[in-house]
Amino acid sequence: MSKKRIGVIGGATEKHSVYMKQLLESMGVDVLLIDTLNFPEHVDFSFGDKLKYQNEEIEDIRSFYVRTVFYNEPPYYLEEVKEGKPIDLDGWYSNYTAERERQAFLGSWIRTLALEGRTVVNNISTFQLHYLKPYQIAILRKQGIVLPKTLVTNSKEELLKFRNEVKEVVYKAVAGGTACRKMTDEDWKDERLDKLKYAPVIFQDYIDGDNIRVYVLNHKIISCNVINTDEVDYRGYEKSVEHVNIPEDVQNMCIKAADICGYTFTGIDIKRTTDNRYVLIECNPSAMFLGVDYRTGDNIAGQLAEYLIKNG
Ligand SMILES: Nc1ncnc2c1ncn2[C@@H]1O[C@H](COP(=O)(O)OP(=O)(O)OP(=O)(O)O)[C@@H](O)[C@H]1O
Ligand SMILES: [Mg+2]
Repeated sequence: MSKKRIGVIGGATEKHSVYMKQLLESMGVDVLLIDTLNFPEHVDFSFGDKLKYQNEEIEDIRSFYVRTVFYNEPPYYLEEVKEGKPIDLDGWYSNYTAERERQAFLGSWIRTLALEGRTVVNNISTFQLHYLKPYQIAILRKQGIVLPKTLVTNSKEELLKFRNEVKEVVYKAVAGGTACRKMTDEDWKDERLDKLKYAPVIFQDYIDGDNIRVYVLNHKIISCNVINTDEVDYRGYEKSVEHVNIPEDVQNMCIKAADICGYTFTGIDIKRTTDNRYVLIECNPSAMFLGVDYRTGDNIAGQLAEYLIKNG
């Protein structure tokens, strides 16, 4: 009998995808690494009566880990434009359309896996919550989860009112991908505030306290650490990572938040204030975990791999 197969959706050379493939193989299963980065140039996906990858059926694969789906936006390499390299601007509309087709297809293909009753961690229909950050805040808040006081706006007037409602303001991107920073005196100057007319921004009450990263898998907490840092946004500035116990009601809050977002597996950022209140910052649908595993030995990767094997 051939070995059980698990799917890893990500990139052929992407770190977490490659790590999970090797780990799962060491646990006795075969792994199909589904490379979304090189689609459509070098990799074939098909959707007919059955889904196919590289022209082969994947009916036997009942369990998938979705690390990442690579989307290109915009369709040009702007760094190359900056360097003055010639690009086909006459073809911008075709390139834009091709990328839209690519995203529509990959999105449908991966969503269909779950529709067919396979385990998909996480189902990518939930990924949009990471991009629609104000909406994630809204659905969590609606269910009673405590988050920082928030204003998302392109209005200078609203922001100036918000400034009076909180002690200190931090700001970050609506779709994510930038560092969270405190508003400085420079930031409060008119010429800077006028930039809100280019794009809206998330403003929040700055929650002073410890950064805690909690991983939830299948309604259970599998790792919980405090991340010591001197920065507002700890990412890239982790001084140390240490195990921490959080009260049962806060554990339940994390599990509930994961459920609300529809994430089987998630890395949740929470803050613990000096007066011992816990405030949830965000649930991440494709949270990285190798750094935490390396520093703590929590073996998040192993627990995720076991879940995939058991549910495949
Ligand atoms: N209101 C806040 N008060 C204090 N620290 C915050 C606040 N919001 C964010 N941070 C810090 O910045 C980090 C990143 O914030 P968050 O995950 O909300 O946004 P993001 O990083 O822009 O999202 P993405 O994961 O898409 O990159 C948090 O883990 C936390 O350390
Ligand atoms: Mg985040």
